[in-house]
Amino acid sequence: MEVIILPGAAEVGRFGADRIAAVVSRAPRAVLGLATGSSPQGIYAELARRVAAGTLDLSGVSGFALDEYVGIPADHPQSYAAVLDRDVVRPLGLAPSRVRVPDGRAPDLEAAAVDYDRAIAAVGGVDVQILGIGANGHIGFNEPTSSFASRTRIKTLAPRTRADNARFFASPEEVPTHCLTQGLGTILEARELLLVAQGEAKAEAVAAAVEGPVAAICPASALQLHRRVCVVVDEAAASRLR
Ligand code: F6R
Repeated sequence: MEVIILPGAAEVGRFGADRIAAVVSRAPRAVLGLATGSSPQGIYAELARRVAAGTLDLSGVSGFALDEYVGIPADHPQSYAAVLDRDVVRPLGLAPSRVRVPDGRAPDLEAAAVDYDRAIAAVGGVDVQILGIGANGHIGFNEPTSSFASRTRIKTLAPRTRADNARFFASPEEVPTHCLTQGLGTILEARELLLVAQGEAKAEAVAAAVEGPVAAICPASALQLHRRVCVVVDEAAASRLR
């Protein structure tokens, strides 16, 4: 595992964008795994800047979201389908037809989850998976005690996760209770993992993921089982590393 500690969020965003740009320059039709939330925003903003400047072309890449809330309309501004469209697909110039998000409104959610893993396999798997980390150590919405072998499936959001994500909604009650998320087993199949974290609130989770025992209580510790992982954090998020 490569651990990169940079002074602040801006440097983390630029470093992550460099990594993604390097993958896409080698493979213009690369498959990206796309996290939502605040952590990768700096990467997406920097990639968008390069696309707008004409120094990067992402029109050939495909993308798979990590997760989606269950039960909110796809056009709700906080559905991950809407967030990805707004913050990633349009500014990065991705082809909308090549970007998928788990269908949190499917009448048969279990079938939608199985279908999602099949769709990832059908394009040959994810080349680089961008990840954030929850303060409780989750990646995707694989909450503590998730199986390391898990596939895309329905999960109940932990109270801590719902509280943390309440900032995106009008009230805490509005935060969905369930989601579809890529499983830890699904995530570990990506050829390369890029986890980004900024801020003191992530320091404990980052330390547990990088230096703690590999244990289901910290789902992100599963990254220690992968051969190609880069963890890029700012100094505050690195503050509990030994
Ligand atoms: C989002 C996701 C989550 C977030 C995590 C951190 O698609 O999979 O694991 O990455 O909850 O969220 P932020 O970045 O908002 O602190």
